[in-house]
Amino acid sequence: MSPRATASGPLLSVKDLEVGFATEDGLLKAVDGVSFELARGEVLGIVGESGCGKSVTAQTVMGLTRSSNARISGSVEFNGADLIEASDDDLRKVRGESIAMIFQDPMTSLNPVYKVGKQIAEQILAHRDVSDKEARDRAIELLRDVGIPHPERRIDDYPYEYSGGMRQRAMVAMALSLEPEVLIADEPTTALDVTIQAQILTLIEQLNRDRDLAVVLITHDLGVVAEVADRVQVMYAGQVVERGTLDEIFYDPQHPYTWGLLGSLTRLDRPRPKRLPQIAGQPPSLLSPPGGCRFRPRCPHAFEQCAELPSLEGRLGKRSEHADRCWLQPKEKESRRSVDGRIGLGAPAA
Ligand SMILES: Nc1ncnc2c1ncn2[C@@H]1O[C@H](COP(=O)(O)OP(=O)(O)OP(=O)(O)O)[C@@H](O)[C@H]1O
Ligand SMILES: [Mg+2]
Repeated sequence: MSPRATASGPLLSVKDLEVGFATEDGLLKAVDGVSFELARGEVLGIVGESGCGKSVTAQTVMGLTRSSNARISGSVEFNGADLIEASDDDLRKVRGESIAMIFQDPMTSLNPVYKVGKQIAEQILAHRDVSDKEARDRAIELLRDVGIPHPERRIDDYPYEYSGGMRQRAMVAMALSLEPEVLIADEPTTALDVTIQAQILTLIEQLNRDRDLAVVLITHDLGVVAEVADRVQVMYAGQVVERGTLDEIFYDPQHPYTWGLLGSLTRLDRPRPKRLPQIAGQPPSLLSPPGGCRFRPRCPHAFEQCAELPSLEGRLGKRSEHADRCWLQPKEKESRRSVDGRIGLGAPAA
């Protein structure tokens, strides 16, 4: 149970999710046994390098990976109702009305040939019994809520007349148009410059606070989750390698991959090192991942036992959900993760 889950249980619950794609080269296992819960009003960050299965996880929750080449197992429950087995019609209702998603590229959600306001109003008209005028007024209100200046005028602009940051805001407005309880934001700031990035994160934070909106924030950047997340889940090669509260992940990280991510993070409160260390090597192919711990080929701390896959284990004696997938003993982790007083991937013990 997540700390903020209510007695009625989590809003969104994903258990042992597996998603494979049949490809010419065999089965590509994009998501391999991912579980998480999201409580009402909570922000969960999902972090990991490119290709680790973040988007496929989110898309599967939304029913967007249903296709002939996808093999999906496990369960996704929203308010107790199963979404994996749901009919396409039921899923369409959940999508937008209960769970909405925003994408990295606003142009995947905004149609370039329709005015922004019309797109938002039409979505409202399609789901709600309101007049054209009411839908338009609501669209103006939504654009105002997400910080578009002069929304009564800008509502009649085409997406290309908006700046990148404004398009992203318009996409958030669109996602909010049916008052969902969950917002899945897949790399919502990656394409934006730093200032606009911060503004969009502030907007997400406000929506979370003011509307009790639960958010799944997907990013490859731990710096982004540090701004807004309550809990963090770190993914590597289709699996969760560590999960915990924001503080646990930042101040007491247990998995060497998390150390590596933290080590390559720019921190404003520390002097910037000459060169930020990156994690050497590449994530494995998901067509034939290495046996045992998937991070083993890149991990300077790997030893014989790592040839066997560690399970995601909670920490002994801790009441929190902090868990990781690593064979190292807690004491070893503490001594190895610190490099010159800074958390980093480190070097093997002498
Ligand atoms: N429809 C599909 N068919 C086959 N393979 C797919 C499909 N969709 C995604 N994949 C593969 O699944 C793996 C996980 O992809 P995913 O998009 O979830 O990564 P990600 O963590 O979101 O990465 P990024 O940070 O680059 O967005 C990748 O190897 C990708 O190529
Ligand atoms: Mg992605």
